[in-house]
Amino acid sequence: DWTPENMVTESIEQIRRQVGDRRVLCALSGGVDSAVAAALVQQAIGSQLTCVFVDHGLLRAGEADQVKNDFVAATGVDLVIADEKDRFLDALAGISDPEQKRKIIGREFIRTFEAQARELAGDRGIDFLVQGTLYPDVVESGGGEGAANIKSHHNVGGLPDDLQFTLIEPLRHMFKDEVRAVGLQLGLPEAMVWRHPFPGPGLAIRIVGEVTEERLTILRQADLIAREELAAAKLEREIWQFPVVLLADVRSVGVQGDGRTYGHPIVLRPVTSDDAMTADWARLPYELLETISNRITNECRDINRVTVDITSKPPGTIEWE
Ligand code: XMP
Repeated sequence: DWTPENMVTESIEQIRRQVGDRRVLCALSGGVDSAVAAALVQQAIGSQLTCVFVDHGLLRAGEADQVKNDFVAATGVDLVIADEKDRFLDALAGISDPEQKRKIIGREFIRTFEAQARELAGDRGIDFLVQGTLYPDVVESGGGEGAANIKSHHNVGGLPDDLQFTLIEPLRHMFKDEVRAVGLQLGLPEAMVWRHPFPGPGLAIRIVGEVTEERLTILRQADLIAREELAAAKLEREIWQFPVVLLADVRSVGVQGDGRTYGHPIVLRPVTSDDAMTADWARLPYELLETISNRITNECRDINRVTVDITSKPPGTIEWE
């Protein structure tokens, strides 16, 4: 019968059979799926696995540290960190168009990952790549949760010929709730296991306008406030996703302290959903919205207005870009 324990035992046996004594690579994104998949493979084959975390500098407050510290502490995984914040920021300079942002981030991710993979492969080579593909992804062959989720069927698309891997997909029979249960069983940090879905291009597509270090800092701070207050209200698990969006190219007049301000609006975009295909705007309690609004306007420089997005999907999308 299905228990997280049985699921772990069975997966481990299967991974050992598949891999033998060969080497395995895994890209961590900070999301639940790649973390649980990597933790399972780690339990199965230990030091034959190397994980790569491309830090593109577009994650939310604390998320990169969660991967670099908490995940490693919980799993003992061999982790290579590629700190490529400057590379991504440079590549994004001057770009406001959402699809161009996605393309640039995807391209830089593949380049970085490829370079790491080549270096790690050395003479011995690496045969396998772990993917956090879930059952609904298998059925639909869509969705996915991040730049680290390199889509493909057998060989990994987008990578050159000398870097072809056979895929290991330990979650391909699981639904999200089963993945979470397995993650907890493996001792992963709760914050990681219960993380809301987060887009691969990260905060870059939550800044309407050009992505700059300064704007990322402001958005990270506002996003953290929203997440903290949602957690304090114990509503995290009722909400599918809670994007916080910075309208960096919009200014409005406000009055703060003794003077007139001319700052930017923040949009709160809490939604409920089952699968992100459709979504409804979440009816968060007024008191919670009030607290978030007060904190953001008090604590975040250059933000003088907080709005709530009350558009369903369709016609809106969950993300603003
Ligand atoms: P939308 O905004 O289309 O989003 O309603 C649906 C779901 O997909 C996520 N999303 C992305 N995920 N790369 C990703 O990995 C992307 O470029 C991307 N765009 C949107 C979004 O967060 C939501 O869960």
